[in-house]
Amino acid sequence: MNILLIGSGGREHALAWRLSQSPVCEKLFASPGNPGISECAECVAIDVADHAAVVDFCRANSIGFVVVGPEAPLVDGLGDSLRAADIKVFGPNANAAVLEGSKGFVKDLCARENIPTAAYARHSDKASALADLARFGLPVVIKADGLAAGKGVIIAETEAEARDAIDHMFGGGFGDAGAEVVIEEFMTGEEVSFFAISDGTNVVPFGSAQDHKRVGDGDTGPNTGGMGAYSPAPVFTPALEAEVMERIIQPTVKAMARDGRPYSGVFFAGLMLTAQGAKLIEYNCRFGDPECQVLMMRFEGDLVELLLAAATEGGLAGAERPVLSDGYALTIVMAANGYPGTPEKGGAIAIGNVGDARIFHAGTAMRDGQLVANGGRVLNVTASGAMVTEAQAAAYAAVDAIDFPTGFCRRDIGWREVVREKVQS
Ligand code: AMP
Ligand code: GLY
Repeated sequence: MNILLIGSGGREHALAWRLSQSPVCEKLFASPGNPGISECAECVAIDVADHAAVVDFCRANSIGFVVVGPEAPLVDGLGDSLRAADIKVFGPNANAAVLEGSKGFVKDLCARENIPTAAYARHSDKASALADLARFGLPVVIKADGLAAGKGVIIAETEAEARDAIDHMFGGGFGDAGAEVVIEEFMTGEEVSFFAISDGTNVVPFGSAQDHKRVGDGDTGPNTGGMGAYSPAPVFTPALEAEVMERIIQPTVKAMARDGRPYSGVFFAGLMLTAQGAKLIEYNCRFGDPECQVLMMRFEGDLVELLLAAATEGGLAGAERPVLSDGYALTIVMAANGYPGTPEKGGAIAIGNVGDARIFHAGTAMRDGQLVANGGRVLNVTASGAMVTEAQAAAYAAVDAIDFPTGFCRRDIGWREVVREKVQS
């Protein structure tokens, strides 16, 4: 079977690596792909916003299956267009991708289905949002309803900050995404990323990971798309996973199917492990980046088979949970100087002997035969180990074998677990 993968980041490089290993995969195409992905797929330029062009490409190249990496094409209905053309696709239709596309939709669903999450209010005008603020106390969380490239969440420590955030959102600061605002109670606890794969009716747990969102060591500085991750997250015990499947994921699958929005694809649940148990922060309709890289490092099955089953009605009925390796995988994001602001482009990169580590390309390009930085997050340096401490040491040894003078990385990815492992030993 020929397969088309949509996307260009480290997540997609990790997916391409595993997809291309499947005996079911005859030829893998990626659009637009990147220099790393080009080692396991043919990179092609298709305008993904032009659904007819994607369908035409699939027909011309006998594509039997499309795997969509990022959320935007799904929220934009690429899944619908492909299904209408009888092409199998991994990723939900637009009416189910709304789980990522509208934060207010998810909060209402949680309220209806009794799914644990932070208390909230939806507002579509500024005056009512401002008038409602006081009852949430401080800090308070202000969110633009729609997709805002991961930037639409403000944690306001003071009332003035909260009012400014509301002003900014209704003033068009996040475009249409801020036409509606969600105010949320601030939750405290440790955050975990949890993944589950659904065919619309059946759902299997996939695995957990912990991301590092802040740009600086010790979780300081501005938020980013993620500076490193490891999997599994041991704080997310089997008992917690069972609780989350029963109280959060399964009720969501059921409600979406009942409401005529069957969700087929991956659930990426952002969870807060609070004193009252695990609560949903948000859903994403795609794999996390860089969480996907560590999950793929551990995944032992046939990725095409699994994702195809999810793309087939009832395909996961009676399915066993996917097998991930024991031990840990850890990935370190090497970013270009300036990230998460304006990253410096064009800096040369030389990858030396990285041993067993795996380098996923995120924002790279080839210029005149030279690998260069071409984005904010540039490389994902990924390694395995029996403990997080070992995986971390292997990953940093690989980082140190990479010459990337205009880049940087955090030096403490996995710190929470490294501290806990030290205490236990
Ligand atoms: P989101 O884009 O919804 O994942 O939010 C980005 C980040 O904001 C999350 O990863 C959390 O760290 C934080 N966050 C979002 N909602 C809340 C909340 N209700 N309480 C505390 N932190 C939150
Ligand atoms: N690493 C967080 C995300 O993919 O949204």
